[in-house]
Amino acid sequence: EEISYDQSLRPQYHYTPAENWMNDPNGMVYYEGEYHLFYQYNPDGDQFGNMSWGHAVSEDLVHWEEQEVALTPDEHGMIFSGSIMADKENKSGLFPGEEGGLIAFYTSAGNVQDQRIAYSTDSGRTWKKHEGNPVVPNPGIEDFRDPKVIWHEQSGKYIMLLAAGKKVMFYGSENLVDWEYLSEFGDTGAQGGVWETPELFELPVDGDEEDTRWVLQVDMNPGSIAGGSGGQYFLGDFDGAVFTRQEKSNDINWVDYGTDFYAAQAFNGMDDRVVWMAWMSNWTYASSLPTDPWRGAMSLPREVTLQKDNNGEVQLIQQPADELKDHRGELLYEAAGIELEGSETIDGFEEETYEITAEMEPGSSGEFGFRIRYSPDMQEETIVGYDTKNDVVFTDRLNSGKTDFHDSFAGVYRAPSRLEDGTVKLHIFVDRSSVEVFANDGQQVLTTRIFPFPESSGLEIYSKEGDVNIKSLQIYDRPSAW
Ligand code: FRU
Repeated sequence: EEISYDQSLRPQYHYTPAENWMNDPNGMVYYEGEYHLFYQYNPDGDQFGNMSWGHAVSEDLVHWEEQEVALTPDEHGMIFSGSIMADKENKSGLFPGEEGGLIAFYTSAGNVQDQRIAYSTDSGRTWKKHEGNPVVPNPGIEDFRDPKVIWHEQSGKYIMLLAAGKKVMFYGSENLVDWEYLSEFGDTGAQGGVWETPELFELPVDGDEEDTRWVLQVDMNPGSIAGGSGGQYFLGDFDGAVFTRQEKSNDINWVDYGTDFYAAQAFNGMDDRVVWMAWMSNWTYASSLPTDPWRGAMSLPREVTLQKDNNGEVQLIQQPADELKDHRGELLYEAAGIELEGSETIDGFEEETYEITAEMEPGSSGEFGFRIRYSPDMQEETIVGYDTKNDVVFTDRLNSGKTDFHDSFAGVYRAPSRLEDGTVKLHIFVDRSSVEVFANDGQQVLTTRIFPFPESSGLEIYSKEGDVNIKSLQIYDRPSAW
């Protein structure tokens, strides 16, 4: 039967399952020309439960095709989050011949949580659970889950990291089946909730391969910057056994200052760049989101890099993956060199899905930005703006549409910023029920869900208490990727 993806509030260029509940991305891997996105999925309902691994495949990171459910619960419990590693040389011995395949690492969540594997010889379409499971038994820790497996070139070993309470634990293996405990990392950073879904990779600073850092990303629920669940990262060294934090201060590094970017995972098997995606929701209200017959969406794929800021401190940069540019629609509007004071509605603009790129000089303005998904009649707007007095990029969804399905949904979210060259850059992706803001070339990122009426499709540019110079502004259509 034909599935319709053309529903009000259904994201048109973000992944959603045709129906039912979805949370974390799992098992992301680029393998034999396909990007695989597995995810926490309830095949039987639109609430958390029966957790399985759903599956979607893409050749370009933009168009996704849903597949059969990959892994389903068994007598050991539900199938919680995890990762996939390609075992091309059959080091595991799990595959019949010399040809290897894919190995999925997941948590069985029953009476206890432990780490198990399944393997596939048909590019992830069908899976066999390993008879020798669990590969990492539970050592007596209640929250013990979300194995991420990476290849550590320098020591010639595979590393598994997982979340254990408010810590990350590291294990090592040569064959992906036998794992030995290495170390743990914790007692630092944000501690407001339990740590989940860790991620680890090495990146050059400003592209210099001689100067690298390891990035350890962990998610936490609750207690994150915008309330509820969110991610933080640590920078340092990983020597194949121990992660050591190396930063000038012990400040908390938040990954995203919006409410809806959780459990980010990077694709294994992409050798030349780190691209991650996250669940675009928040455990605080995920089960109440007003969408039907599906609940849950993924963020856009983002490329992650490291750059030194003006103070010489290394920071995480997130930019929309390059592939998204190839699938931009037509240029809908363009402006340059305009001094604006007050508000300017873009005439005839009626769009639900688009992309804005803007460079603005604050001038005497106290606050400027965009009212998106705007309808003066319905009093709906989501404001993406810059507050020049506090140097803050913000998203305001107080009047963004449906907000009353949960007490803590409406709100304003702020990311500390710094003006470089006196210019503010805003790159904004608007979909039928989301807004992702990449500010100042990906230095600050804010991801939020919104649930506007379809009729709230206007757009206004504004400046308060003075004028702003719009150096350049482009708005592109974002066509449906279904
Ligand atoms: C993170 C998480 C994971 C767990 C999964 C269950 O959002 O809580 O720790 O494996 O979701 O669906």
